[in-house]
Amino acid sequence: MIVGVPREIYPGERRVALDPSVIPGLVKAGFEVVIEARAGVESGYLDEEYAAKGARILPARAAVFATADIIVQVLCFGSNDKNGRVDLGLFRPGQALAGFLRPLGSIEATRDLAATGVTSFAVELMPRSTRAQSMDALSSMATICGYKSVLMAAELSPRLFPMLITAAGTITAARVFIIGAGVAGLQAIATARRLGAVASAYDMRPASKEQVQSLGGRFVELPIEATDAQDKQGYARAQDESFYAKQRELLGNVVAESDVVISTAVIPGKRSPILITEDMVRRMHPGSVIVDLASERGGNCELTKPDEIIEAHGVTIVGKINLATSVPYHASRMYARNISAFLTHLVKDGKLNLDPEDDIVRGTLLTRDGEIVNPQVRQFYSLPALEPQRTA
Ligand SMILES: NC(=O)c1ccc[n+]([C@@H]2O[C@H](COP(=O)([O-])OP(=O)(O)OC[C@H]3O[C@@H](n4cnc5c(N)ncnc54)[C@H](O)[C@@H]3O)[C@@H](O)[C@H]2O)c1
Repeated sequence: MIVGVPREIYPGERRVALDPSVIPGLVKAGFEVVIEARAGVESGYLDEEYAAKGARILPARAAVFATADIIVQVLCFGSNDKNGRVDLGLFRPGQALAGFLRPLGSIEATRDLAATGVTSFAVELMPRSTRAQSMDALSSMATICGYKSVLMAAELSPRLFPMLITAAGTITAARVFIIGAGVAGLQAIATARRLGAVASAYDMRPASKEQVQSLGGRFVELPIEATDAQDKQGYARAQDESFYAKQRELLGNVVAESDVVISTAVIPGKRSPILITEDMVRRMHPGSVIVDLASERGGNCELTKPDEIIEAHGVTIVGKINLATSVPYHASRMYARNISAFLTHLVKDGKLNLDPEDDIVRGTLLTRDGEIVNPQVRQFYSLPALEPQRTA
């Protein structure tokens, strides 16, 4: 089984799907690995390092697609909505593909991918189970985003983060408030604390309270309870507009008293809820910073502009998307570990093992034989269910 790694082509993308450290393990497991020349350079991994670990370097992108049985990418067509379409002409039926495919993003894109006949696996659909934890690329990238969001806020803030007692007087610690204490939010709390800030967080899932506190953050309790706050995978469930309106009202004072707000509240496949209105921004101190990690899905702040940094009412609002690419060395390393664990799970005796009983295979398999076969994705797009033997 030959695994192919093309260079990422999304504008500004610096990650690569495999780093040299995972090559020996893949070779030992029976894979051959081909890498497009210079695919890892932007992450800090040179062709010589891949070659020394046993990968073959191919000069042309088309040669990687032509040689490989399975292509692994970070942003595949679908999540690469800028120029990813060029890959469609390079796939052949029956070839496999694994990476971020944004399966709930656009039915047209997923249909076009299916039409190539490629057997594709969307890492976003990885089940949240102990067995799949080593393959959970979403959590890896969320960890990086949570970390980087705090560094960006510290850079843009006119304040110091730690409390300092100096000859020039005492400096009080910055107050960092995190909305949404999932993987990114928890990493943001830990990072803010390491920089000496006072961190507090709120999440509508009651289960997150203990996790916030275990990181030394203060959990902000609001007198409002979500109905059925989380699904069985641990993702938040969408609430009705009256719930969000109540949240905004209750969050107003906490936001106004914070020097930095990091918002991470997302619902899979849905627009992110607006939790910070323009009026709430107006009530913040000038120089405050909001980093809206939900910006790619519309943002938690009403004023967020996707992929831009703006100033409104004296407050800096960061809507940068794809933050993980700004830490490409470790983002690629973590992603590579996830993908290589997935590949070794997926391939048995040199063949794709599409076991329908396996929740990891069934959960991530998106397209096969020209069709969208994932039951969750079909249901999301109101497509009729397929007979069970066609899904995996
Ligand atoms: N393998 C595993 O078992 C596994 C892997 C990853 C994550 N998890 C768990 O899944 C949960 C969700 O993690 P995630 O980071 O992927 O979530 P996510 O990225 O989908 O969402 C981020 C956070 O925003 C919160 N949120 C959504 N709407 C909100 C609102 N209106 N108000 C306040 N908060 C809101 C969510 O509850 C979540 O905690 C966490 O408990 C995490 O620990 C488990």
